[in-house]
Amino acid sequence: MKYNVLLLGNGGREHAIAWKLSQSEKLDTLYIAPGNTGTRQYGINVNIDLLDFEAVAKFTEEHDIELVVVGPEKPLVEGIKDFLEKKDIPVFGPGRKAALLEGSKEFAKNFMVKYDIPTADYEVFAASDYDDALKFIQLRDIYPVVLKADGLASGKGVFICYSEEEVKQQLIAIKKDPVLSAAASRLVVEEFLQGEEASVFVLSDGHTFHILHNAQDHKRAGEGDTGPNTGGMGCYSPAPVVSDEVLQEIKEKIINPTITGMQLEEAAYSGVLYVGLIITGNGPKVIEYNCRLGDPECQVILPSLNNDLLDLMLSTTQQTLDEKTIQVDSVYRCCVVLASGGYPGSYQKGLEISGLDSVDPSLLIFHAGVEEKDNRLITSGGRVLNVVGSGATLKEAIDHAYSEIHKISFENLYYRKDIGFKGLQRF
Ligand code: AMP
Ligand code: GLY
Repeated sequence: MKYNVLLLGNGGREHAIAWKLSQSEKLDTLYIAPGNTGTRQYGINVNIDLLDFEAVAKFTEEHDIELVVVGPEKPLVEGIKDFLEKKDIPVFGPGRKAALLEGSKEFAKNFMVKYDIPTADYEVFAASDYDDALKFIQLRDIYPVVLKADGLASGKGVFICYSEEEVKQQLIAIKKDPVLSAAASRLVVEEFLQGEEASVFVLSDGHTFHILHNAQDHKRAGEGDTGPNTGGMGCYSPAPVVSDEVLQEIKEKIINPTITGMQLEEAAYSGVLYVGLIITGNGPKVIEYNCRLGDPECQVILPSLNNDLLDLMLSTTQQTLDEKTIQVDSVYRCCVVLASGGYPGSYQKGLEISGLDSVDPSLLIFHAGVEEKDNRLITSGGRVLNVVGSGATLKEAIDHAYSEIHKISFENLYYRKDIGFKGLQRF
């Protein structure tokens, strides 16, 4: 049987998902809403707002869609799965309550405490009690301290403060920013964890889970992990910090209790669970859960997967994941994000992109913020392109990823030159 699929999203992640789905023997027609210049190579881009659930449902009914694959977190947190499943449309991704693992940091923290899942110590304060939050931090008197907005903030809701003064300034800045203050109507004050960061990606049908792969993201804009947080400036996979021993501990102490805990909460988790971790001296601890694939981590994880992605996705909605095994290759991959100068602050759009055709086809190029105008490709976002290199060693993968970037150009192109540096230090 072949399936018509509707993929929601328009970033580099969705280009990678579309690319991988297009290789499936089970795929009939792929539609992408809204998609981008990358996804249209593999399917039909359709202009639907992915938060307009009625419009999504109408399209799925009119085009015999048999699976909706949700790329970004927002529709999941807003309950697209619950909405579409009432109309018998299967959705790859968690339902509203399960997506709270990403949608509410307070929910995630309370859940982890309840099920004894290792995480940073924390307290939660209401926006009306920010003075109490400050008093708590002053009494605690340990810096750095981490402030986190409870709700979704597009990766911009986490602040690491190195002094009381910084905490005060940050609290004022949160109150002033309308988007942030809405996300921070509840504020989590969290212990700062020392250690290296890594992400583990899990596929679950609510009962059975399999580990897809692991990666390390580079969230800061500047080299050496400095500067403001971004959506991610590059990543590599696998991350040597996730040794077999560490992975075993993550499985036993974190993933297993998360999947069984969510069953007990009557919110069985189906889809991809992204577990963000810090590997501390006392073992791995969770710093965040996300209810979807990472962007740009997806761009290094999916190329390593030998399975048919659509077959795996269907087995999560059909709850047959126990019949599957995950096959990933043993190749290293490195993804470098080409961004518009200024990102994550203000940046220009509409800049002409050139040179993509001359890049060696052994590199994978995924489009993120790219549009077409008058037969030319132009920039339309902060993160513009993802260049993915591969190799038998991490060093080879990194060198491969960087080897042809000089051929690509647009005004004010910026990228980090040190993606993978922490991984290299481990060899
Ligand atoms: P998030 O938006 O939750 O991914 O957090 C952004 C970044 O803040 C993470 O990638 C970490 O580098 C850092 N971070 C978050 N929580 C902690 C913590 N408890 N200790 C140390 N670093 C953290
Ligand atoms: N790259 C981080 C994220 O997708 O949340």
